[in-house]
Amino acid sequence: NRCMLTLLGTLTLGLTGCAGDLSILDPAGQAARDVVLIWWIMLTFATVVLIGVVALWLYTFKRKYQERTPQEERKIARCWIIGGGILLPVLSVTALLIFGVPTGKRMLPLPLSQPPEVIEVIGHQWWWEVRYPGAEGGEVVTANQLIMPAGEPVDFHVTSADVIHSFWIPRLGGKIDMLPGRTNVIRLEADAPGVFGGQCAEFCGTQHANMEFYVEAVEREEYDAWLAERQEERLAERALANDDFAQARDEFASTCASCHSVAGLSASTIGPDLSDIGARYTLGAGTLPMEEGAIHYWLENHQTLKPSNKMPSHNYMDTATLESLGAWLETLTP
Ligand code: CUA
Repeated sequence: NRCMLTLLGTLTLGLTGCAGDLSILDPAGQAARDVVLIWWIMLTFATVVLIGVVALWLYTFKRKYQERTPQEERKIARCWIIGGGILLPVLSVTALLIFGVPTGKRMLPLPLSQPPEVIEVIGHQWWWEVRYPGAEGGEVVTANQLIMPAGEPVDFHVTSADVIHSFWIPRLGGKIDMLPGRTNVIRLEADAPGVFGGQCAEFCGTQHANMEFYVEAVEREEYDAWLAERQEERLAERALANDDFAQARDEFASTCASCHSVAGLSASTIGPDLSDIGARYTLGAGTLPMEEGAIHYWLENHQTLKPSNKMPSHNYMDTATLESLGAWLETLTP
């Protein structure tokens, strides 16, 4: 038993050290704090139950055989059934319900005196489309990365373009299913500015694991400035500005543009919007870190890096073309 206690203690201590982009044990918003509190309560309770069961199990080995009448046996059995089989589950599940209902309610889009910011997220196999309908001067669209104001509630309207996905930002709370043909809403709030990881939490095909995103929570003023900066015309200006890449732009317009949108050049919504791809942290929704030359590498190897992704292979293009396409796309930052 001492061995078991030591093991449990070590495990618990080990868990308190869990941190990182995707750790629910490192909450950065009230909804996530509520969830993690319930998690700790459940872990503690389950540990107590486990210790009790193990103790009883060991006791049965040591117990001396006692002569009992059938009535006495039945009485003891009834005690265990009522206590351990009915009373304990009813009490513990009721306690969890009392904790759980307000936590769930916090993430519901209940009416507020000031309507919260709305961000739309659409799940695709295997990437995220993000839309900001509230932007002044027209909707702003990005992919695989989203920015939100910190210190205020944000309503995420989520849906799917193909199969069922699940929208999850573990450090802010959640998660919620993204269903084709239906919009679900989850309200989340980040306490303070920071960068958080997001992950698809519903198996959605072979590249489900490579369906990540990043969330950047920033001060309200910074958020408004960012939205203004991402207006179509501004991005388009930048996309068309650099004459060194005229050829890459032509190549893009004649091939990539049938699926991808770049402000000022094309408006297809089949693949991720690339108007600001140079500003992303990763490529392929978390498959590859973004760095110099990464887009070129991705264009040549994406079917090996993320097999079955919907982008056709580019083997028919020569390296120089892919290289200049990659270099140009890297310049697309606001
Ligand atoms: Cu999308 Cu799993």
